[in-house]
Amino acid sequence: YVGSHMAKTLTELGDSVTVLDNLSTGHRDAVPERARLVVSDLSQRGFLHNFLEQNDFDAVMHFASCIDVAESVRDPGKYYQNNVTNTLKLLDAMIANNVRRFVFSSTAAVYGEPKYCPIDEGHPLQPINPYGYSKYMVEKILADFDRAYGLKYVTLRYFNAAGAAPDGSLGERHDPETHLIPLLLQVAAGKREYLEVFGLDYDTPDGTCIRDYVHVSDICSAHLGALDALLSDSPSATYNLGNGGGYSVLEVIAAVEDVSGRRLDIREAARRAGDPARLVADAARARRELSWSPRYPGIRQIVEHAWDWETRFKSASRPLAKQKAPVVSARPLANS
Ligand code: UFG
Repeated sequence: YVGSHMAKTLTELGDSVTVLDNLSTGHRDAVPERARLVVSDLSQRGFLHNFLEQNDFDAVMHFASCIDVAESVRDPGKYYQNNVTNTLKLLDAMIANNVRRFVFSSTAAVYGEPKYCPIDEGHPLQPINPYGYSKYMVEKILADFDRAYGLKYVTLRYFNAAGAAPDGSLGERHDPETHLIPLLLQVAAGKREYLEVFGLDYDTPDGTCIRDYVHVSDICSAHLGALDALLSDSPSATYNLGNGGGYSVLEVIAAVEDVSGRRLDIREAARRAGDPARLVADAARARRELSWSPRYPGIRQIVEHAWDWETRFKSASRPLAKQKAPVVSARPLANS
């Protein structure tokens, strides 16, 4: 999701972009026509070494993680394998080939149950699920790789990534979908019958959980800031990405009803395990050091862009046969 928007942003700026994706959850037709798509997998150590040796990359941005918190509790092995072990293989191959700039997609889940809100980067890191731990472990690895091998990195801790490209060309497509906004849009579009609100008894003004939704385009602009910092030899750093306000589940539902002009069938359900009542970012550091200034901080615009894509563009996505991104299918090497 975020990676496809980043590839779009970079190609529109004229940068040369190579997308490495095993297409387990990604979509071929989400790769911009001007980007090169290489279909392979971070588990393939030999491939990674050859790939980095044969190309001359200025930097690597890493979006290829498993992100479903509930699944990480059911199947932690998958999360540690992909999110930690495979990231380590990527980093090893980078160091071996002298590629030393890295932008890492981390998460608010590294903080666990917040001790205070808004959460700044100095907040204790106490993840409460394997997903959060997997990202936390990579953060630790990055710090060690900087000290030992001179890897320069920017870690971006996303709060709730949401929304679609303002030009309507690209959105959010998870399968299965678990995120609040796309689920609500599917209800509004008649593709899903109802939405269950997980808990109305939280200690918040309306009893539902509060989250800090951050527009995917704003996440991309933070990545550009991170890239600039790395290219100008700034030291490694870690930043929260959020708007610092936060909206409750009921407020998001109201925004979707408002934007779509439809009343949604909403049902009360039990709390979802591991959901903190409130997760709101203090992103002052990113604003200050990356000159980050989110363009779409309000929930209404986030929902408007996502609804636009859901209704006008999603069904009209380019059919696979017509997609033009060049595809290189890499076979695992014997020593991988
Ligand atoms: N929610 C519902 N019903 C649903 C789906 C979600 O009520 O059907 C609620 C959740 O309980 C939560 C809010 O809507 O309060 C947002 O839920 P999402 O699943 O959209 O997002 P999360 O806050 O659970 O997840 C986000 C990121 C994760 C990250 C996590 C950190 O997507 O990658 O924040 O806690 F790990």
